[in-house]
Amino acid sequence: MLVSKAKNRTVEVDIDKVSLGSFYTTKSGWLTHQVRHFLENALIESNGYLLDPFAGDGHLLETIKADLILGRQVKQATGFDIQGANWAINDSLVAIPNPERAVIVTNPPYLANHSAKRKGVEQLVAKYFANSTQKNLYRIALENALASADYVVAIIPETFLLSTFPKHRLELAVVIQDQLFADTDAPALVACFGKKVRDDAHVFTGEQSIGTLKEILFLRQSNAPKQNIYFNDPNGRIGLRAVDGSDGKTSIAFVAAKDFGYPSDSVVVSSRLMTYLEVPGVADVDIPELISKANALLASIRQRSGDLVLAPFKGNDRTGRRRRRLDYALARKILSSCL
Ligand SMILES: C[S@@+](CC[C@H](N)C(=O)[O-])C[C@H]1O[C@@H](n2cnc3c(N)ncnc32)[C@H](O)[C@@H]1O
Repeated sequence: MLVSKAKNRTVEVDIDKVSLGSFYTTKSGWLTHQVRHFLENALIESNGYLLDPFAGDGHLLETIKADLILGRQVKQATGFDIQGANWAINDSLVAIPNPERAVIVTNPPYLANHSAKRKGVEQLVAKYFANSTQKNLYRIALENALASADYVVAIIPETFLLSTFPKHRLELAVVIQDQLFADTDAPALVACFGKKVRDDAHVFTGEQSIGTLKEILFLRQSNAPKQNIYFNDPNGRIGLRAVDGSDGKTSIAFVAAKDFGYPSDSVVVSSRLMTYLEVPGVADVDIPELISKANALLASIRQRSGDLVLAPFKGNDRTGRRRRRLDYALARKILSSCL
């Protein structure tokens, strides 16, 4: 597949693997103390019925059956898949038959509509997107799972947390920092949905409690009046490194333009990772103070949200910490609050 026409670069894509999202969960790091507790209750309510509608090699079902507590609760564990001989064949992106109202535990395929085009597998998945307003296969899978089960535990991309997908049944969300899959380092989240409509959800990173989802989203809000701030201005007086580096040393930061060292002619309208920005009306002498206040506020909201106010960016850095990206909407709010 051609990924860069300008550089004439190509990469090999496994068409079946990409279109079916066949990245298996070979590790059990997703079954944290909180998720286990959620499943204990869910399995009581479902009379021990358990279902993985995207079962693959069945790792998730095996992990639950092997668990000392949960294993004893499971009366029947079944799965579906669209391929292979392990399970009954079912297209679970169309519908998930579940007459027993079994608890669904699953790791559905992830594939964004736009990446399907880029990866050349559009034809294989077009029918799902044609019948849905969702733009990623995992969201279609999640809609189907929530429609057919009272309790759903889904391993999905961490970006779900900041997304607009309805979260009124979300009870618990656990961000998994360790790599869960054998062959991809996609940042993952274990999302646990219950039967009832709820006001808020508990959020954890691994075993550590971060707070509620509302508290985290609140940290992205700002009451400061909106200022004119121009991003991607090559002559801007402030540089912005909007992503954490892979070395674990260089974090997201606002930096004085003269110290930034990033070629200003590399900045284009679509720049999202490294850029210059301009805040008109601020005197040159006040720029250093604005930068230091903005970095302090950023550090504070990163710390208070356990980093979850920021979207994940690629995988983890060399120290094992998940890399993050600061979107310009939040960068604008931070700067506005500091003016
Ligand atoms: C991400 S893998 C997960 C496998 C397993 N649950 C795990 O975590 O190891 C996704 C699985 O969904 C299956 N799949 C893809 N599209 C499907 C569809 N439309 N209906 C049912 N299964 C599908 C793939 O064949 C693959 O086995």
